[in-house]
Amino acid sequence: MDEGALPWWQNAVFYQIYVRSFADSDGDGVGDLEGIRSRLGYLELLGVDALWLTPFFRSPMADHGYDVADPRDVDPLFGDLAAFDALVADAHGHGLKVTIDLVPNHTSDQHVWFQQALRSAPGSRERGRYLFRDGQGHGGSLPPNNWTSVFGGPAWTRVPDGQWYLHLFAPQQPDLNWDDSEVRADLVQTLRFWLDRGVDGFRIDVAHGMAKPAGLPDMDPNAVAIMAGTQSHDVVDPRFDNDGVHDIHRLIRKVLDGYPGTMAVGEIWVERDDRFAFYVRPDELHLGFNFKLVEADFDADSVRRAIDRSLTAVQATGAAPTWTLSNHDVVRHVTRYGGGDLGTRRARAMALVELALPGVTFIYNGEELGLPNVDLPDWALQDPVWERSGHTERGRDGCRVPLPWEGEIPSFGFSRAGAAWLPMPTHWAGLTVEAQLEDPESMLSLYRHALEIRKTSGAFGGEELEWYGAPPGCFAFRRKGGGLICALNTSAAPVPLPPGEILLASGPMEGNQLPPETSVWLV
Ligand code: NOJ
Repeated sequence: MDEGALPWWQNAVFYQIYVRSFADSDGDGVGDLEGIRSRLGYLELLGVDALWLTPFFRSPMADHGYDVADPRDVDPLFGDLAAFDALVADAHGHGLKVTIDLVPNHTSDQHVWFQQALRSAPGSRERGRYLFRDGQGHGGSLPPNNWTSVFGGPAWTRVPDGQWYLHLFAPQQPDLNWDDSEVRADLVQTLRFWLDRGVDGFRIDVAHGMAKPAGLPDMDPNAVAIMAGTQSHDVVDPRFDNDGVHDIHRLIRKVLDGYPGTMAVGEIWVERDDRFAFYVRPDELHLGFNFKLVEADFDADSVRRAIDRSLTAVQATGAAPTWTLSNHDVVRHVTRYGGGDLGTRRARAMALVELALPGVTFIYNGEELGLPNVDLPDWALQDPVWERSGHTERGRDGCRVPLPWEGEIPSFGFSRAGAAWLPMPTHWAGLTVEAQLEDPESMLSLYRHALEIRKTSGAFGGEELEWYGAPPGCFAFRRKGGGLICALNTSAAPVPLPPGEILLASGPMEGNQLPPETSVWLV
């Protein structure tokens, strides 16, 4: 990095690739590393700066790869190490940085350590790498505490000798004991393994997990009730955001500091902004995902609040703010905003709001095509949430349906096979990359145009925003450094446009008026 230059991620646009669903090269209906390599030209054309690849490591796929059996190898479903090296080399050739997922909170139950633990006695060194405990009640037949799994049901599973092990997610994802020095040393080895292969950074899964409080105290029973079936956590919840987690982030940071130009972004579901900020202190993570825009309704006041809170949360830390509208865990935003034409118009408006903000943007694969969530039939559902919740929560498969690339019928060029791992709607022909690429009105063209302007215009300079007065249901802000103005109308009526020359709009203007469900960039 040049002396004094900003690090590459400071204003980067990341593109999240859900590996199973991006592109399939070998015709098994599941996306893979070669598939990604074959589509790098598309990503360069789109104009993103960096890729985030979801887990492609050896895994029995109980949680589609977030259950890692060997963190230093590629699962044969996705390719092999040679395919990974070729992907990194080619991505760099296309000017794209490559970041990968790291899953330190838990392993797969098929990980050699867990298999050894099952074969070993209570109190053994092998069990010490995980969180095995005796149960409560007569004969230890009740779980050691009242913690629930994020995927539903208790967070404890009993093994044949009577002990219980902790899993904050599925039973196939036992939590590691981060007080164990071997667990720490192994993470360092994993980091170095991928850094030596040329990766530019990591997305840290459940970065607010890992450390557990001494004695594993019960959760507040109200917290159990409030949070059942949700992914949102707060400080009354002893499962997450324990102070000990920051030592682990310092450990990660030390390793990364030995590889200049590399970074880490943590998945941090922490409600309190002051606690969120701890994760991005100068000796911890470079960036923290914040999910405020995911949680905000399509309403100018809620969006403005989300923006203000996100900016304030990181202000004192020097870390860049981050922005996300969708990812592989949440309902796609076209659908959250109402679906159909309305959802699409709103999604277009929010894309321009997000890309106007200072800091780092994460685009989830398919949002640039305007993909909605898919209502899948029961038989197709694969997310462990569906089973764990006793079929009351449908889970996250609906936002993970593979990408449509070309043609008129499923699998729309995603795979040589007609069938993809999740069924693709037959009516997606109009949403393929092929159908959108040359259409100036398409969602894809909007994203390409916006990303190009963001990269080439001086108007996006500076980290600070100033808010203008705006009619109810609307807002307008100006980037203080560069002068870009972004206005959003979430009200039911057209409003006067702020003064300035239009750079880009999410939909047609009505004369000098900004129509409902529309946003605009001006200078
Ligand atoms: C967060 C990941 O984003 C999600 O997909 C996964 O199921 C959990 N962590 C458990 O690893």
